[in-house]
Amino acid sequence: MAPVMATQVGRAPKALRGTIRVPSDKSLSHRVALFSAMAQGTSRVSGLLDSLDVRSTLRAVEALGATVELAAGEEGLSGTIKGWPAAGPSSPVVPLDCGNSGTTARLLLGALSGYEVVACLTGDESLSQRPMGRVTEPLAMMGATFAEGDGEHREHKKVRPLCAPCAPHPLQQTLPLTVYGSAQLKALDYVSPVASAQVKSAILLAGLTADGVTRVTEPHKSRDHTELLLPAYGVQVAACGLSVTIEGGQRMRASDCMVPGDPSSAAFLLVAAALIPDSEVTVRDVLLNPTRTGFIAVMRRMGADIEILESEQGGLGAERMGAIRVTHRAGLQATTVKAHEIASLIDEVPIMALLAAAAQGETVFEQVGELRHKESDRFAAIVAGLNLLGVEAFAQGDDLHVVGSALQTSGVPLETHGDHRLAMTWSIAALATGQELAIDGLESIAVSYPGFFEDLKRLS
Ligand code: S3P
Repeated sequence: MAPVMATQVGRAPKALRGTIRVPSDKSLSHRVALFSAMAQGTSRVSGLLDSLDVRSTLRAVEALGATVELAAGEEGLSGTIKGWPAAGPSSPVVPLDCGNSGTTARLLLGALSGYEVVACLTGDESLSQRPMGRVTEPLAMMGATFAEGDGEHREHKKVRPLCAPCAPHPLQQTLPLTVYGSAQLKALDYVSPVASAQVKSAILLAGLTADGVTRVTEPHKSRDHTELLLPAYGVQVAACGLSVTIEGGQRMRASDCMVPGDPSSAAFLLVAAALIPDSEVTVRDVLLNPTRTGFIAVMRRMGADIEILESEQGGLGAERMGAIRVTHRAGLQATTVKAHEIASLIDEVPIMALLAAAAQGETVFEQVGELRHKESDRFAAIVAGLNLLGVEAFAQGDDLHVVGSALQTSGVPLETHGDHRLAMTWSIAALATGQELAIDGLESIAVSYPGFFEDLKRLS
């Protein structure tokens, strides 16, 4: 892809000032779209994120039999979603294109496993390289069947089951995949090797129709939106420590949902304010779920000036919301981000690594191997990008080390690998240096934050 100059963000390190609402939370928007499709009745939803990823989920649930009537407004998509029939979704005649969205693919694989349905899931080049075995393996233990390919063999379900000698090991599975759901799933007690909300959610959604109680236990707590939101759809879920249980046979009923702003999108503006002198940025109406706001604790530890103004008004279901304000303060210090904190800031590691580059000393992000399985190999891309910016950054096993120093521009384009969070991170680097940086492709930002550059302009 031809390099693109990040001129949209200006040439001088100009302070960012003002109050803004960032686009709605992506994780919650996917769940509201999918849960409303699975529920009986018509849900009224507002403020769904209007981005490429969420549109992938909306298109998929429509193809499965839900009726989606949403209109775009200032704060996202609002309107109604009528659930698919009580008998379950219909088998789509064409593949469900999940685009760039891992959440769409993995949650759908879980949700569809519990119905008598055959559906092929595809994705773009990036998604087609991401591991799906982490969900298909436990879902197969529950009784769903998966086959690689586009489902042209859907009439021959028994011929190409998951465990046929010619099939790749389930853990190596990637899209395209065809799921053959079953209305007779068995409950599962699953100890997940990864802290992943997508894995946890896929199993819980399959557990909804399974016979018995399904339990997922994680090594660290991942984002808990599925367990917090399901009760709003009439489903009881119990969370205890690192385990979540769900009893099969519960019916989902329609709900009214309003989605607050996305803390992961807010993080880019808040880190920019921490990096650029004289800045003060307030992000209002943003989700304040503790499983998502680990970056705030880390920024505080590094010496950033952050204020949280929790809203009296409730968020979505049991979710909390409020405002976050960052006022620039000089003298950031390095820190160690412990392994148990990583899940609560996994999507913020790229922008936090940029912040670490501006801090004095060596920051360590422990056990961030999961970054290798995101929309790109973020681990390698962060190291390469920071090195190009003259910053010493390196991997030591699964730990990421960043040694603070002044950012320098080399003229060599920074690579985004089509990854929205890298594109926004390098754009903030351009803003912080006040210089033009060549960045190879910014269009991926539409996956989660289509108005990113407009919002930066509004604040400058
Ligand atoms: C998500 C979970 C996380 C996160 C992703 C969204 C979700 O992925 O990185 O952007 O909505 O459940 P993992 O479950 O793979 O950690």
